[in-house]
Amino acid sequence: MTQNIDSVLQENRLFPPPADFASHASIDETKLQALYQQAEDDHEGFWAKLAHEELSWNRPFSKTLNSDNAPHYRWFEDGELNVSYNCVDRHLADKADKTAIIFEGEQGDTRHITYAELHREICRFANGLKREGVECGDRVVIYMPMVPEAIIAMQACARIGAIHSVVFGGFSAEALKDRIDDAGAKLLITADGGHRGGKLIELKAAADKALDSCGDSLRKVIVLKRSAHDVAMKAGRDIWWSDAIAGVSDECAPLSVNAEHPLFLLYTSGSTGKPKGIQHSSAGYLLGTVMTMKWVFDHRPDDIYWCTADVGWITGHSYVAYGPLAVGGTIMVYEGAPTVPDTGRFWKLCEAHKVTIFYTAPTAIRALMKSGDEVPSRYDLSSIRLLGTVGEPINPEAWMWYHEVIGKERCPIVDTWWQTETGANMIAPVPGVIATKPGSCTRPLPGMALDVVDTEGNSITTPDKGGLLVIRKPWPSMLRGIWGDKARYIETYWSMFNNRFYVAGDSARRDRDGYYWIMGRIDDVLNVSGHRLGTMEVESALVAHPAVVEAAVVGRPDDIKGEAIFAYVVLKGARPQGGVDEALTNELRNWVGEQIGAIAKPSEIRYADNLPKTRSGKIMRRLLRTIASGEAITQDTSTLENEAILLQLQGKE
Ligand code: PRX
Repeated sequence: MTQNIDSVLQENRLFPPPADFASHASIDETKLQALYQQAEDDHEGFWAKLAHEELSWNRPFSKTLNSDNAPHYRWFEDGELNVSYNCVDRHLADKADKTAIIFEGEQGDTRHITYAELHREICRFANGLKREGVECGDRVVIYMPMVPEAIIAMQACARIGAIHSVVFGGFSAEALKDRIDDAGAKLLITADGGHRGGKLIELKAAADKALDSCGDSLRKVIVLKRSAHDVAMKAGRDIWWSDAIAGVSDECAPLSVNAEHPLFLLYTSGSTGKPKGIQHSSAGYLLGTVMTMKWVFDHRPDDIYWCTADVGWITGHSYVAYGPLAVGGTIMVYEGAPTVPDTGRFWKLCEAHKVTIFYTAPTAIRALMKSGDEVPSRYDLSSIRLLGTVGEPINPEAWMWYHEVIGKERCPIVDTWWQTETGANMIAPVPGVIATKPGSCTRPLPGMALDVVDTEGNSITTPDKGGLLVIRKPWPSMLRGIWGDKARYIETYWSMFNNRFYVAGDSARRDRDGYYWIMGRIDDVLNVSGHRLGTMEVESALVAHPAVVEAAVVGRPDDIKGEAIFAYVVLKGARPQGGVDEALTNELRNWVGEQIGAIAKPSEIRYADNLPKTRSGKIMRRLLRTIASGEAITQDTSTLENEAILLQLQGKE
């Protein structure tokens, strides 16, 4: 996802907040400056005040931040609350009949769920979980389509202190199995299927396959009936959702848990090894989502807020299942693909449900842009007042299209930089105040101490000079660790600068106005359609195929996906004639799809007799990246052990 630096370096258009938006925005220049000042003067006091004001506590905290065991920070550690109470119960007094969720299935079925109904469903399912033996601290894996029950399941876990780990429904049985085992999950929640892209996604079948080879932590499977097709149910293990809640009470008292109690794990890719179970807290995490709903999304009581992310990603946690509910909002949830029945579906949904805030990924914007201006022009998009993007850098061309064709130049665009690990938006414009620039996520939010440093850890003050993106001070919604691997937490995020600050793994630069521009990852992590994938994961999947000896995977810039996966493969047998074997290429692509999930399928596979290595045996990845992007080779290849294979790698032989 390396941007075309030349084009963004020349990007100097500035878009002040549209006057109409600014005049209604809840945060104006004075308020924003006051927030920055308070955070600057007293970082802990700033967050303590917000935590007291914005969250409902069962037991208020007296200590804001414990840094004794840094970088294992603890926030609000003697406080107690319940996240589900904060997201639902506290709105019942004045919003019981307000719609919490507007749902539309891919096939057009719709549901409106009020806060009172949501409360009842969460309570019932929480009681069902308890009846199946789930207790506080147990891990529950959720492998569901994008339907309200996925949110109900997450909230029900939060209600009883169970720790959920949502696995994206597009991941394969193999990926699901690894995550169940790593978390030591006791119970799995899935569905008989989900509708996406005009197809039935067979979640239960994948779950069965995963469970065949899982360890013995997993005892029960709750299955939601979502489709009309039959699935096998294993006696004693599998139970229908409707049976799980049959006869239980509509009331389930929210369990008061410690502020630091883990709310969830979410697995994300790293440059090496297996995916990491990123662990988040209860209070600090919730505070991050609540504040950003207000600062970045300018959330108001009458908003219809639609974040298109699946609950399988962090965005679907913070800006679907938690943040918008914690502020008493109405969210839109759509089950399917943006292209069903045609590329107007998102805009049709915005029109039909009067969406006011629309938050999606650059990859979706680019794909929809490709289908032309005519498609969105068929729909009335006048309800939209704010647009957002997340997941990867947005190229100025896509930004301008979003601004002009979707936002009609009336709507600010909030380009939000953050990560699974940060829990909430970190760098993003406060839309009524901060002027935006196409392709920049603008400035850090109040209380978020971002910086760009050189390899010595010194802040870079020269405009446009690239460096490492770091966070200098702990923040409440930060990750609390990697599940079961303390050493990896330190090593991945902190050790580079002796635990002094958090290293995000991105490179960035600041322009002369102090605006941040994200330039790409510093490690071997791919960003495909806004989702992180480790090159190692794809390589491991490839070499697990009996025909493959060695594989190297790199990213190649892609107009729509941001980055496409490009694999170089060395076979056990002879290299195919002319480097082409379509049948094997298809087989390997599907194989990777089965091992990880469809998003990990390489776009291109090139066969070579060898991989380019230095004399010390290191694969020359930079060289492979250059070749994959079709650029001329400028690297010095004289140290190459086997220079002759360059032609094969370039597909010229
Ligand atoms: O490289 C950055 C990119 O996505 C990474 C985080 O990926 P993930 O944990 O999957 O979370 C994605 C959704 C929060 C970052 O390290 N990234 C995220 N947002 C942006 C971005 N790059 C540029 N601009 C953004 N707005």
